[in-house]
Amino acid sequence: MGKLDRTSIVVTGAARGIGAGLARRLAEEGADVIAADLNAEGVERVAGEIREAGGTAVGVGLDVGDRESFRAALERAVAEFGRLDVLFNNAGISKTQHFLEVTEEDWNRIMRVNGLGVLFGMQEAAKIFSNQGDGGKIVNTASIAGKEGFPLFPAYCASKAAVVSLTQSGARDLAAEKITVNAFCPGVVTTELWEQLDEESRDVGETERQGQLLEEFSEGILVGRTSAPEDIAGLAVFLASEDSDYITGQAINVDGGMLVH
Ligand SMILES: NC(=O)c1ccc[n+]([C@@H]2O[C@H](COP(=O)([O-])OP(=O)(O)OC[C@H]3O[C@@H](n4cnc5c(N)ncnc54)[C@H](O)[C@@H]3O)[C@@H](O)[C@H]2O)c1
Repeated sequence: MGKLDRTSIVVTGAARGIGAGLARRLAEEGADVIAADLNAEGVERVAGEIREAGGTAVGVGLDVGDRESFRAALERAVAEFGRLDVLFNNAGISKTQHFLEVTEEDWNRIMRVNGLGVLFGMQEAAKIFSNQGDGGKIVNTASIAGKEGFPLFPAYCASKAAVVSLTQSGARDLAAEKITVNAFCPGVVTTELWEQLDEESRDVGETERQGQLLEEFSEGILVGRTSAPEDIAGLAVFLASEDSDYITGQAINVDGGMLVH
């Protein structure tokens, strides 16, 4: 028996990185998983690997910034598994840049995925939960960047503060429908995202060596190392399970102690 047997879960941004790690671990715990991502090919590969390992997963192409696309991915869970129990709003993008260099295009592109995409997911999942009539869970991937502003990621930090805020207002508004809304806040997870951020950091003259941005950003992690998606997965399983039924509106740090508030 897994902790999430026959729990129907949609994970966005599941083609790689944290989302792929979450999809794998949730399936290991018995969940039926829709692995959704803009990268439809990548997400089909992740779903195929889960099935080969004995789990249940379907890969679905999704643009979280398009409401209809999001609704279709969530409805796919209902069509495949009979209902929807949990949504992980995990897809996200970032960019390394100095504060004065943030353009309107950068702001809109990042906010569309990280902010608007999370809002669409919460709204569309809540409608399905409401029709089902017995509650549901929404888990948003925020970041420590949603609790503190960092100089090299201004638009990203603002977008993750939006995720924390949506988590709070969503929890308050949807509680009457027995829907809980929580977020987790990773610190440094060594995914492919960091390769992009590191390259951009060298492009804007902030760092010189490959890997330098990650090294410098990781100084002071209390547990003494960066994290992998597996380090996030235990909290994700907890937040998807009934063990977390009395928790809502929270943004929980899973950062090895980078923040202590
Ligand atoms: N890696 C870290 O250190 C870290 C730390 C804190 C928070 N986060 C957050 O965790 C989440 C996952 O990060 P990651 O490191 O795995 O990143 P990643 O870049 O490795 O993966 C992100 C995934 O999201 C998908 N995606 C992008 N735009 C999309 C869209 N419009 N619709 C659907 N899917 C889309 C990408 O195709 C990709 O597969 C993000 O929200 C990120 O902000 C990451």
